[in-house]
Amino acid sequence: MLLSGKKVVIFGVANEKSIAWAIARLFHEQGAELAITYAGEAFEKRVRPLAESINAVAILPCNVTSDDEIEAVFRELGSLWGGVDIVIHAVAFANKEELKGTILNTTRDGFATAMDISVYSFLAIMKAAHPLMQGRGGSAVTLSYYGAMKVFPSYNVMGVAKAALEASVRYLSEAVGPDGIRINAISAGPIRTLAAAGVNGFHHILNHVEAKAPLRRTITQEDVAGAALYLCSDMAAGVSGEIHYVDGGYNVIGL
Ligand SMILES: NC(=O)c1ccc[n+]([C@@H]2O[C@H](COP(=O)([O-])OP(=O)(O)OC[C@H]3O[C@@H](n4cnc5c(N)ncnc54)[C@H](O)[C@@H]3O)[C@@H](O)[C@H]2O)c1
Repeated sequence: MLLSGKKVVIFGVANEKSIAWAIARLFHEQGAELAITYAGEAFEKRVRPLAESINAVAILPCNVTSDDEIEAVFRELGSLWGGVDIVIHAVAFANKEELKGTILNTTRDGFATAMDISVYSFLAIMKAAHPLMQGRGGSAVTLSYYGAMKVFPSYNVMGVAKAALEASVRYLSEAVGPDGIRINAISAGPIRTLAAAGVNGFHHILNHVEAKAPLRRTITQEDVAGAALYLCSDMAAGVSGEIHYVDGGYNVIGL
C-alpha cells in the first residue's frame, strides 16, 4: 500500500462522479486516513454517505470562499491528527452565463468569483495547511485543464483561472518546498461531471478529444486518481511544481 497511515484531506467531492471521489476511494484502498469536506449544507446529503462508506474520520463543511471555514477544517484536523500529509484541491466554479459565448461575456464580479473559488482557495487552503504539513514529506495536488494554455470554446474565464492556478502551483512549490512539501497539478482531459456540465457545448470537446487524442478515448476519474496516487506517494518524492497531463495525450497533437 502506497499511502499507509497517511492523513489526507480532500476538497471537492460533490457526488459519485466527482474526480475527488475517485481519488478518495483509491487513497482509502491504499491505506490513507481521510477527511472529506463538502461545499455547504446543500451538498452534505450526497457527500456524507459517500464519505462514511470509506470510513472518513472527519466529514466537515467548507465553503472555500470563507477563511473562517478553511481555518476551522485545519483546526479540527490539527486536534484529530496533529498533522496532515496530503491535500487534494479539486474545486472550481464560474457562473454559468460566463461559460458560454466568448470571454467578452465576463463581468467584473464573475471574474472575481471564478478566481476566488478556483484559484485563491488553493492558496488559502495551503496557507492554513502549511503549519500542519511541515517536515512530514507532504504533498498537495490541484486539478487543472488544458484550457489554461489553449483556447477552448466556452471555457472563457475558467481558462484564465486555470492559468492562474498553474502559476500558483509553481509559486507555492517554491514557498513550501524548503519545508519538504511538494505541490503539483494534474491537467485532466474532459470528463462528464457536475462542474463540466456548466460548460456550454462540453460534449463537443469530449467528442473531439475522443477522436483526436493519441489514445483515441477520453479519460476517466480513475485515470486521474491513479496519477494523483503517484504524485502524492513517495514514488514522486522528487517531483514538485509540475503540471502533469492526464489527457490521453491530447496536448501533444498539433493537427
Ligand atoms: N470534469 C472535467 O472535465 C475536468 C477537467 C479538468 C479539470 N477539472 C477540474 O477538476 C476539479 C474537480 O471538478 P469535477 O470535474 O470533479 O467536478 P465536481 O463538480 O464534481 O467538482 C467541483 C467541486 O467544486 C466544489 N466547489 C464549488 N464551489 C465551491 C465552494 N465555494 N466551496 C467549496 N467547494 C466548492 C463543488 O462542491 C464540487 O465538489 C475542478 O477544479 C475542475 O475544474 C475537471
